[in-house]
Amino acid sequence: MTAEQKQRPTPAGADPHDLRTHTCGSLTPNEIGQTVILKGWVDTRRDLGGVIFVDLRDRYGLTQIVFSPQDDAPSHKAADRLRSEYVISIAGRVQQRSEETINDKLPTGRLEVRVHSLAILSAAAPPPFVVSAHAQKNQAASEDLRLRYRYLDLRRPETQHRFLLRHRVYQVIHRYFDRHDFIEVETPMLMKSTPEGARDYLVPSRIHPGQFYALPQSPQTYKQILMVAGLDRYVQIVKCFRDEDLRADRQPEFTQVDVEISFATEALVQSLTEGLMCALWQEVLDIPLQAPFTRLTHNEALRRYGSDKPDLRFGLELINLNACFAGSGFRVFDAALEGGGAIVGLVAPGMGDRGRGYMDRLDKTVVRKRIGAAGLIYVRFPSSGEKPLSSVKEHVLARRYVDKAIRQSGARAGDLLLILCGTTPRVYKQMGTLRLHMGNELDLLKNAPSWAFAWVTEFPLLEWDAREKRYSAMHHPFTSPHPGDVQMLSDNPEQARARAYDLVLNGNEIGGGSIRIHDVQVQQQIFTLLGISEHEAQEQFGFLLDALRFGAPPHGGIALGLDRIVMLITGAESLRDVIAFPKTQSAQELMSSTPSIIDPSKLDELHISINLPA
Ligand code: AMO
Repeated sequence: MTAEQKQRPTPAGADPHDLRTHTCGSLTPNEIGQTVILKGWVDTRRDLGGVIFVDLRDRYGLTQIVFSPQDDAPSHKAADRLRSEYVISIAGRVQQRSEETINDKLPTGRLEVRVHSLAILSAAAPPPFVVSAHAQKNQAASEDLRLRYRYLDLRRPETQHRFLLRHRVYQVIHRYFDRHDFIEVETPMLMKSTPEGARDYLVPSRIHPGQFYALPQSPQTYKQILMVAGLDRYVQIVKCFRDEDLRADRQPEFTQVDVEISFATEALVQSLTEGLMCALWQEVLDIPLQAPFTRLTHNEALRRYGSDKPDLRFGLELINLNACFAGSGFRVFDAALEGGGAIVGLVAPGMGDRGRGYMDRLDKTVVRKRIGAAGLIYVRFPSSGEKPLSSVKEHVLARRYVDKAIRQSGARAGDLLLILCGTTPRVYKQMGTLRLHMGNELDLLKNAPSWAFAWVTEFPLLEWDAREKRYSAMHHPFTSPHPGDVQMLSDNPEQARARAYDLVLNGNEIGGGSIRIHDVQVQQQIFTLLGISEHEAQEQFGFLLDALRFGAPPHGGIALGLDRIVMLITGAESLRDVIAFPKTQSAQELMSSTPSIIDPSKLDELHISINLPA
């Protein structure tokens, strides 16, 4: 209850221009007989033979208000003008609804307010889509229209509920880190570029013509420096900016819960993060989680689930069939094995009776078109127990090899064995996508546990960038190599593992972090491996290298994708549903038409000239 609501009781004949006494969600039977002042938006209006019923809506709920000529003729007359989304204030008396008008779905559904005074505070143009709390699913407007009129979209109770949950998430985070001795520090928004792997959003400097700030892709370097500064435990809920290709789970401007800890180990960062997740699920959703979460190495995740962010809500594990088909003489299998690749299987239970039509569609539209694999090989096991049917003729792939694969996969009557082959890790990732597709086809998520958290650990430190012809850091260049793999940095860098970890939830990467390099020599060695010359390293990260020379504690941390966590907690389908003013797939904010053209005089001031391609 707000302070203003405590100003009670309100005398009969109260002025609707006074402060409200209650919100539209707060009346209870205790208020029956009292005079109250309510303010809000007209959700719906019904004129039932001279008596006008309005559902009045605000953030807190809906209350039915009644205008009758017997109660107050001028208010009743004025109520005739009310339309959806008008903002009004009323004073009236609370009473019990008549039996036939009770609505048990609403907390206030047994009460109504008989209005004796109405003030129209703001008229509203007809909204371009239905805002009402009673709107049906089929009245949903297109996303573009909703984003254009985002203030109306945000007025919808469903949307407001998501932001209420988002707010609760912030509160739990602040309390949790405060309890664990973290201090919140703000790092600059105008900074030097950090290499998180995406393009920077740049901000020109007026005072230093030709020079630019970068908006943070993350506060990575600053948080490490805060550890050198002795702050010991840092947290920040922080905006990050990355100019990259957008998807439903990626925004150019997003929020991280950024964490750094001195004298940390992987186990410490992970257990503190698990504690936060448990607190969030308990306090926001009232769901107890089981910690510790599952742990998988990167290699295991790839080989068992075909993904570095596996959805563990269902099984359907991948099976390596290399040994079964070795020397089979089947050209595509031989080629895959000779090239150091793999033959990977997946059993789809209960799908062995699917006909040719289904299999052809799966091959063409899913395997070739969506997944981009060369083609699907399969063995169908009719549920009648008849002989399994292979998609490859027996004279091309001898029966005994197929039988071996059947034994290895454990497929039984009624099952379908799907097989892909190709180079690694590509073929595993392709099978990982097919696994998700089959999980959907089989409706495996229907009765699955709702929340499958997992840590993916031991990521490779480096990956080969074939286009740039050099290594790039898989996490970022400040990530420490695995202590046992330091020697590999000179002999076999690709095999070196990183002290990096990702937190995965239901197939979404919701966080990533690492133990950092705190030794300046090792940091320089990594820069060299990444093809960053000493001069460039000094130019870009000299401040960090310098700081590491002045007594840097071992440290590590993590950043959690707050928007992704809120998306999952609220059951939203896209990050756009949990960000107040999100960008579209083409990085535009439709309500304010951003980005936009800048006045040439402002560009002159910044010494910028636009050079668009013809
Ligand atoms: P990373 O790049 O893995 O790590 O980012 C951490 C988490 O941020 C979320 N995320 C995003 N969410 C929405 N839109 C995006 N474009 C986007 N990009 C990333 C993901 C991801 O797991 N500095 C390191 C952290 C560290 O090492 O401590 C970093 O930023 O959920």
